[in-house]
This record gives sequence, structure tokens and C-alpha cells, in this order.
Amino acid sequence: MTTPTVAAQPIAIRPTHDSRLASVNFDDIPFGRTFSDHMFIMDYRDGQWHDARIEPFAPMPIHPACSGIHYGQSIFEGMKAYRGVNGEAILFRPDKNITRFNRSAARMAMPAVPEELFHRALVELIGLDRDWIPDRDGSSLYIRPFMFATEEFIGIKVAENYRFMILTCPVGKYYTKPVAVKVAERYVRAFPGGTGFAKAAGNYGATMEPMRQAREEGYDQVLWLDGVHFRDVHEVGTMNVFFVFKDKVITPSTDEGTILEGVTRDSVIQIIRDKGTPVEERHITIDDVVSAFHSGELVEIFGTGTAATIAQFGRLGFKGEQLEFDQSRWSLSDFVRTEITAIRTLAKPDPYGWNEVL
Ligand code: COI
Repeated sequence: MTTPTVAAQPIAIRPTHDSRLASVNFDDIPFGRTFSDHMFIMDYRDGQWHDARIEPFAPMPIHPACSGIHYGQSIFEGMKAYRGVNGEAILFRPDKNITRFNRSAARMAMPAVPEELFHRALVELIGLDRDWIPDRDGSSLYIRPFMFATEEFIGIKVAENYRFMILTCPVGKYYTKPVAVKVAERYVRAFPGGTGFAKAAGNYGATMEPMRQAREEGYDQVLWLDGVHFRDVHEVGTMNVFFVFKDKVITPSTDEGTILEGVTRDSVIQIIRDKGTPVEERHITIDDVVSAFHSGELVEIFGTGTAATIAQFGRLGFKGEQLEFDQSRWSLSDFVRTEITAIRTLAKPDPYGWNEVL
């Protein structure tokens, strides 16, 4: 679908008269369960976006035949706003998420959201709820833009009606300890020609049963291999993955369209390269990972994601073997976490122009 043309669209704002902010315990905010006072909504019909608005956060009625529910024409993004060391409200790389959202939309035959309007919606919404951005260490305001088909039709077709929304939630850490990760040996997440690069809801739905099984076996997450040969490492679903060797870092390349082009991934690659450590974006097989672990060349593995930030792997399970990582050797992931946190909160200057101070 093409980007619909829009005359500069006003955003109607209906503020709440009943803020819930005072009831939130910012010292204990589990991920994704507390929602800020407002949400952004707009609807697509007749080839145009209409009724851009910010309203008090509330449940909404859905038609039972809503095609997004039945057939999964549904996409989302994850991004964050941080509280700067001097109290600023800071959006981290919103342009990247907006572009990726529209790439996901194109793959799912959904209309693009005009970039200017998307950006203005973020600025207005976060401006209104800026007091919801936490200032505690490891906390931030998680921002969830999403779009789903709203066609009231049970037949399968590309929908003509959609809803685009943005929610925000103050969040603490997604992972509070090193993650135990199981390598997928039976299920697949993505393959060339599929939707692996997109933040399509179905990509996540398909991983629920493998995740349930992994949890039952004592793991936190699944590391996906390529869906054709079960050989190349892809990603963790909530995170891109980085393998730290003694003299370099390897992260799976995104060239086949099977891996999410993570914004944190991109930021971390730049930070590591600027430190002087080479980063190779290339295919890496699970067998190479296992043998590098045994030879001592592989020092640590960590994941990167908006929600997860930087998550160190404590353990990797593959074919009945447990690779236990030695925490005393983790230094690059600690460095990257400290560095990216300092940049995002302006504790140190942002040399990349990643921050947008609101
Ligand atoms: C994110 O990191 O923003 C994600 O979308 C991962 C997860 C919460 C689904």
C-alpha cells in the first residue's frame, strides 16, 4: 500500500481530569502492566487517516469480526523515552522506529502512517504524560505504537479499515538477572520471504508454544535458528544477539530479511566500533558458537532490544548440553550497557544525535 496523502492533520486532545499518576509506585513497576494517563488513536478509512486524537487511556469496544483479530493484520513497535539527568524528557531515535513501523506495514499490506504525523503524535502524547517518565535507574517510559485491521468482515482480504494507536507505560527492567536461553531445535520463527524482519504480531504469537516449553524446561527465552537448515543463528524474539569473542564481536546479519533490524542493535554496533572493537555483521552457525565456547574464544553473549536493553546470557542450552557463561569475563556487555544508558539520559554528551529532547 502507498503512503496516504494528508493535509497537516490536527490532533484533538482531550486530557484526563482524573490522573492515576499519584497511585503508581515507581520503585516497583513490572514491565508492561501500568499504563500512562493518555493514548493516541486515529482511524484509516476511504484511503485516508482520520480523527487523530489523544484521549484518556481506556478500554475500547471492538467489533467481533474485526479482521485484525481473525487474520493477524497487526503490527507494532517498541520505543522508549528516558528521563535525563537534568529532568529532561528524551525520546531515543524515534525516526528509526517510525521507518521500521512503515516497513512492517508495507509487508503486511497495511497503510503507512505519515512520518510527520507519527512523530507529532509521539511528541504530543509524551509531552502530555511527561511526568510518567520514571527517573529510577533502569527505568524508562516504554512506548508502544501499533496498528491493526478493523474491517468488520469474516472473509479474507486486504482490509480497508485500520486503527493506529500509541500507548505508553512506565517500566522497570525487563530482565532482572542473566537470561537462560534454549536454542530452538524443532520450531522456527522466520525464513527468507517470510515476515521475520517485520514487527508483525503473528511473529510473536507463533513463538508462544515454544516459549512455554522452554519455560517449563527452566529457560527464559528461545534462540531462533534459520528456518531452512537449523544452522545459522537468528535472534531471540525479544532481542538481537551479540557474540563477544576475544578480539571481535559477531552479530547475525539482517540481509535475508529474517531478523529484526533492532534500533538498540544498531546503536550497540556503533558504540562497540567507536570503542575500537571490530563488529562483524554476518552469518554465524550454532556449531561455530558451541565450538568457540569450548575453545575459550567466545567470552560472552548478550542480547539487545528496546524492552530488554542489554541482557547478558547466563546459560545457553543446545542438544542436551548447557553452556554456562563465566560472569567474571563479562566486560563488553557491561561497558555497552553503561555507555548507552549514559548517552540516553544525557549523563554524557550524545555524539550520535540519537536523542530528541522534548
Ligand atoms: C521491544 O523490545 O520493544 C519488543 O517489542 C520486544 C517485546 C516486548 C515483544
